[in-house]
Amino acid sequence: MGIGTAIRHRMGRFEEPAAELYRSFFIDLEALVKQLSHVGEPKRILEIGCGDGALGQRLTQTFKQADYLGIDPAETAGRGFRGDTARAEFRSMTSSDLRAEAPDAFDLVVIVDVLHHVPAHMRRDLLNDAATLTAPGGRIVVKEWLWGRLIAGRLGYWADRYITGDKDVDFMTEPQLQKTLADSLPEFTVCETSSVRPWRENILLTLRRKTDD
Ligand SMILES: C[S@@+](CC[C@H](N)C(=O)[O-])C[C@H]1O[C@@H](n2cnc3c(N)ncnc32)[C@H](O)[C@@H]1O
Repeated sequence: MGIGTAIRHRMGRFEEPAAELYRSFFIDLEALVKQLSHVGEPKRILEIGCGDGALGQRLTQTFKQADYLGIDPAETAGRGFRGDTARAEFRSMTSSDLRAEAPDAFDLVVIVDVLHHVPAHMRRDLLNDAATLTAPGGRIVVKEWLWGRLIAGRLGYWADRYITGDKDVDFMTEPQLQKTLADSLPEFTVCETSSVRPWRENILLTLRRKTDD
């Protein structure tokens, strides 16, 4: 258990505000969701690696017509979600478990701050699952913290390694991320790239099928 998790478990009612404050140092989740306006009005959203539901809450607030499914291998998937539970569901499962169920496809599949927690040799499978679960005309959105030589480029690593406690955390440089996406999702192309405040290390990539012109 990382220092952060151990402290969180002792914080009681202060846990949620503290977790929000900690996260906001690294990323403005409201800004991220606003930056997704180009994806149109998805009706079905899947978040792979949804964690406590912090992003799921913002997605359901912004995309009011959408049903949202958040999945995460962790047993605590969605435990911090305080949004509209009529349109949101959380399940503790992997993307391959969900793929095996062959659900109706999703028109927005979101993978935010997840890939650096997934061993490099397993990223392709996760991204393949995302591709299979994405409807024709749908979008896959990937957000990662980029590895870099300057202090900011290392911040994400230090936080995840020593506070979150993931000793295997493995960040990519931008070329490594682009190569991972190109190799794993050959039928998709990146159609939007931006950074999410407050750090330019937060890279946000939207992918569409090459055949969706
Ligand atoms: C930093 S949290 C991100 C949570 C959420 N996406 C957000 O932005 O608020 C990373 C999450 O990735 C999940 N994760 C780790 N390995 C995964 C995998 N192989 N498939 C899906 N999720 C995974 C972890 O359990 C954790 O909840």
